[in-house]
Amino acid sequence: MAEMTVTPWEVKGDIDYDKLIKEFGLTPIEDLPTVFQKNILFRRGVVFAHRDIDRILECIKNKKPFAMMTGLMPTGKFHIGHMMLAQQIIFYQSLGAKIYIAVADIEAFHARGQTLEESRQIAINEYITNYIALGLKPKNCEIYFQSNRSDDPKKSNAYYRLQNILAKHATFNEFKAVYGEITPGKMVSSLLQAADMFHPQLKEFEKPIPVLVPVGADQDPHIRLARDICQRTKEYKLIQLSSTYQKFIPGLKGDKMSSSDPTSYIALSDLPGDIDNKIKKYAFSGGRETLEEHRKLGGNPDVDVSFQYLKYIFEDDDKKLKKIYDDYKSGKLLTGELKQILIDKMKLFLREHQKKREDAKKSINKFLK
Ligand code: TRP
Repeated sequence: MAEMTVTPWEVKGDIDYDKLIKEFGLTPIEDLPTVFQKNILFRRGVVFAHRDIDRILECIKNKKPFAMMTGLMPTGKFHIGHMMLAQQIIFYQSLGAKIYIAVADIEAFHARGQTLEESRQIAINEYITNYIALGLKPKNCEIYFQSNRSDDPKKSNAYYRLQNILAKHATFNEFKAVYGEITPGKMVSSLLQAADMFHPQLKEFEKPIPVLVPVGADQDPHIRLARDICQRTKEYKLIQLSSTYQKFIPGLKGDKMSSSDPTSYIALSDLPGDIDNKIKKYAFSGGRETLEEHRKLGGNPDVDVSFQYLKYIFEDDDKKLKKIYDDYKSGKLLTGELKQILIDKMKLFLREHQKKREDAKKSINKFLK
């Protein structure tokens, strides 16, 4: 197996989630209340681990306020991997969370050398439009840019003040231990991310309420650092962060899904012809070399990328998914047929979604605070 690297700025190798849980010190997700089980992301194990989720479950149970805070790095096309995080955000909004979303334009500037203006365009046209079309509501939701927190000076000052105060409680060795290689710009980005995660608790925003941060597993170093800083911060009364971790969806070819390689992902702007082409040509198959062999020995749904996409995103019905799994494994269902099931589902979904995107464009301003 290729050695795995999982940091906020690099993910590579074969990801072993049990090992990640151990190395990072996460808690596996189990026994969540029924509302979570109804959601495909939790039921199918996409959300696989957490830290301190109990504090949030208490809020949900007792109808107490809590916030959900996360961020997006605006690079490239919005693809189905990004969509899964958006669906998690929308799920928490439906549970009553106040939603905060940071556009990490400062981080994209430091880590990717992307200008603030480029980030703004990508954030609006790719990310935010798709979030809205997927069902994010403007009520109880704030989306902001790291470079421009708020037009209200009290709020803006509070956010940048927090970042500067938190800096006092981090050490250089800690940065090195958490990130490996670090530059001043990346240091600024991770402190700003800590401010992102804690600022909903300030009096200028909500008040000290529990904050849940749903992220991809690569973001845990940022969260570990922020949690350590929190324990030492005396200047503010802060409640420790809660977080959930999502698996990486495999890319079409079975390795990494990467915004810089269009043949590795399905974008939410892909057209029907792209879907046919990408799935038929690139989607890694768990099928056998020849038809006879496949009929005789069966395929392997566990490594088949089309099956993974159905499992994690497009087939919500457990019975139907099981039938597809069994039929593929027994050899009754051929690779071409499995791919066609996915293609049909995706096309249907994208056709509706792309219509909704047109409306979504009109309401962007209701989300930017
Ligand atoms: N670092 C995140 C990414 O690369 C973006 C981000 C910025 C973020 N601020 C955040 C994530 C706060 C979670 C919470 O995608």
